[in-house]
Amino acid sequence: MSLKFDFNNMFSLNIGGHGVSQQDIDEILPEAKLCATHLKKIIANPQARVNLGLEWVTLFQQDKKEIAKIQKLGLQISRKYENVVFLGIGGSYLGLKAAQDALCAPYYNEFKALRKKLSRIYLEGNNLDPDTLRALLKNLEPKKTFVVVISKSGETTETKAAFALVEAWLKKGVGKKYGRQILAITDPQSGTLREKVKREQKKDALSFRAFPILKGVGGRFSEFNMGLIHLAIVGVNIDNLFSGVKEMFDRCSQDDILKNPAYLYALLHTILYRKKAKSIAILMPFSGTLKSTADWYVQLLAESLGKKYHRRIKVGVDGVENWLADKEFLFSKGRTPISAAGTNDLHSIQQNNVEGENNKVITFIRVEQFKTDLKIPGAGDLLSGKSFSALMHLAQEATEWTLVSESRPNCTIIMPEVSAYNWGALLFFFEMATAFEGELLNINAFDQPGVEGYKNYMYYKLGKPGIPPVVAEEIKNKPLIKNPEYIL
Ligand code: PA5
Repeated sequence: MSLKFDFNNMFSLNIGGHGVSQQDIDEILPEAKLCATHLKKIIANPQARVNLGLEWVTLFQQDKKEIAKIQKLGLQISRKYENVVFLGIGGSYLGLKAAQDALCAPYYNEFKALRKKLSRIYLEGNNLDPDTLRALLKNLEPKKTFVVVISKSGETTETKAAFALVEAWLKKGVGKKYGRQILAITDPQSGTLREKVKREQKKDALSFRAFPILKGVGGRFSEFNMGLIHLAIVGVNIDNLFSGVKEMFDRCSQDDILKNPAYLYALLHTILYRKKAKSIAILMPFSGTLKSTADWYVQLLAESLGKKYHRRIKVGVDGVENWLADKEFLFSKGRTPISAAGTNDLHSIQQNNVEGENNKVITFIRVEQFKTDLKIPGAGDLLSGKSFSALMHLAQEATEWTLVSESRPNCTIIMPEVSAYNWGALLFFFEMATAFEGELLNINAFDQPGVEGYKNYMYYKLGKPGIPPVVAEEIKNKPLIKNPEYIL
């Protein structure tokens, strides 16, 4: 059973002037068709995919033998080590967290039976807060712990700092061969982490095993690349996951935009953004286990579509495109994503969704079949004899109804169950929708220059060599103003 997409409440049919009309669709369709043709051309060209950052589209086609090897290695690690610590941030973290919560049993770490005797999982290096990492290292035993460090660039401060600490901790606790308890996932050639892998493997070939994050796969699009070893360690069947991705790939390869779920999703959101000023995107799964998937989506949308400049396409002599920031055309737009969860946030953000500014589009994820169910005991009460899943479905329907009655656009992704197959399909759907929305906006959806600002400032203050002089000058000449009058 596949994912379904219910777009009814995006249309004026249900929500009047705040919704999309047939005329809106007719107006945008010619432009959208050009965008779809353009994206198709890039996806079909291996060099363009790599150069422009779209190689993630092909990840589900990875060699089955390689996948089997990863699956086997994951199981070996999990059988041998009580704990696995993953270090990474942003795209090198959010996919793991989303997978952990969606595809593993709730309270996985707490109960051996629930995790089927596999390793406990800890995700660290996603913050510079010293308290969390310190608490973890104080309580784990180095000899019983395997470490996976993930950084595509190999340079990210948070990951680098955490890894330096964890490596020293492992070395002290395990001794000379500590490197055999480390796996690094990073760029195949460049970066200090790759350099480290090469150095360590020269000393001991079994040390610092490594997997590459493939060229053309950006961090936030890398769950089906860097995330595989995590899936293998926690016992998720990667073949099932990729079957779901393949099905979604086929559905999202349809030329007819109105039948292509990802393209239609992007198209309707773009109309609502352009014409009805709906600039906030709320993803609200009605499921506790999909909340982290909504967090993953926040990064995907924010880093991909929140851009300062439009894109200028330059075609090289080989016919392959290069995308440059068109500094003559300021864009400074992009919808703002927010993650929420039903039913928790019906007692929180929902008030604003219903009565606050009508500037949002809410996407629900409705899970048809939960893994288990609970019946409310007793008799005589309104809730007696009702099941949790029935109440959950009713709450989702009620939320939809409330929003519609206030003319608030929303749509629902219907997930038959939270399985590896459907979860893979869901992530791929969002990735394709984001890529297509980037086309409609005419921006580069696969870079994140805005993230460089804080990094440059930190590097400048830390004295890192190689900061471009213009950037260094700007930091030097425009310090933060801290007027004591405004500090109370
Ligand atoms: O999407 C991206 O590329 C970023 O969010 C990165 O994933 C994040 O900055 C971490 O980078 P790295 O994997 O190089 O440490």
